[in-house]
Amino acid sequence: MGLRGLKDKVVVITGAGQGIGRAYAHRFAEEGCAVVIAERAVERGRAVEDELRKVGARAEFVETDVAQAESCRRMVEQVEARFGRLDVLVNNAAIFSTITMKPFWEISEEEWDAITAVNLKGVWLASRAVFPVMQRQRHGAIINIASAVVFMGRPYYLHYVASKGAVVAMTRAMAREVGPYGIRVNAVTPGATYTEVPRATVTEEQKQAMIAQQCIARPEVPDDLVGVVAFLASEDSAFITGQTINVDGGLIMH
Ligand SMILES: NC(=O)c1ccc[n+]([C@@H]2O[C@H](COP(=O)([O-])OP(=O)(O)OC[C@H]3O[C@@H](n4cnc5c(N)ncnc54)[C@H](O)[C@@H]3O)[C@@H](O)[C@H]2O)c1
Repeated sequence: MGLRGLKDKVVVITGAGQGIGRAYAHRFAEEGCAVVIAERAVERGRAVEDELRKVGARAEFVETDVAQAESCRRMVEQVEARFGRLDVLVNNAAIFSTITMKPFWEISEEEWDAITAVNLKGVWLASRAVFPVMQRQRHGAIINIASAVVFMGRPYYLHYVASKGAVVAMTRAMAREVGPYGIRVNAVTPGATYTEVPRATVTEEQKQAMIAQQCIARPEVPDDLVGVVAFLASEDSAFITGQTINVDGGLIMH
């Protein structure tokens, strides 16, 4: 038996055009879900839609900018028109791999605003857009992707760390507000995870130093995260809400 109550669910994954979000999309497709790739980058979003359809999955790319309320509203409208329901939202989209590290006193206001608009406000806007559908269904699961940097106090991208800390806080308050409607909200905090996408947020020395401190001393990969996200979307986690699950090979223990 697989995870309970996941097959045939309609799952929206924001930012699923590459990296870890793309891995979530593949896993939900394997579980027999209909997968919506709510991504800002059109070519990459379409490419993931193609990949999933080629393996026989129901997949739909919907061009979405989570930082825009109207874009989130239209995305939900399209999902409802196509699938008639919406069961799971994975708030994965973020400005992450394009960040350059710098001390907080060198971050410009423009950069601060751009990052918090996607990583923080975008989580609220996407959740707000799916809420009426989940409320009507009296059923839904929202999974917010935060980051283990919240607990590490990792320096040199304060806007990113602050946005992810807010996502953890928001998860808790949101879970209380939507619990009465049968909707659960949880967060996952990945450690440094190595995908097909290069980024400047970790040097080779920092990578090795972090791995050395993990209980399981190997690099984290997207496959390490897909199971917990699928579990939180399934009925096997029906009594878990407002929680933050850390997945980092035991680097930090909070
Ligand atoms: N990779 C890691 O080490 C790591 C660690 C902890 C947390 N995370 C978090 O996991 C998630 C995925 O990480 P990743 O490594 O795949 O990141 P990534 O930067 O490779 O991918 C992010 C995706 O989000 C999309 N996106 C950006 N802005 C958007 C917007 N406004 N609307 C819609 N889509 C948008 C991008 O186009 C991209 O496809 C992010 O929330 C990230 O912060 C990653």
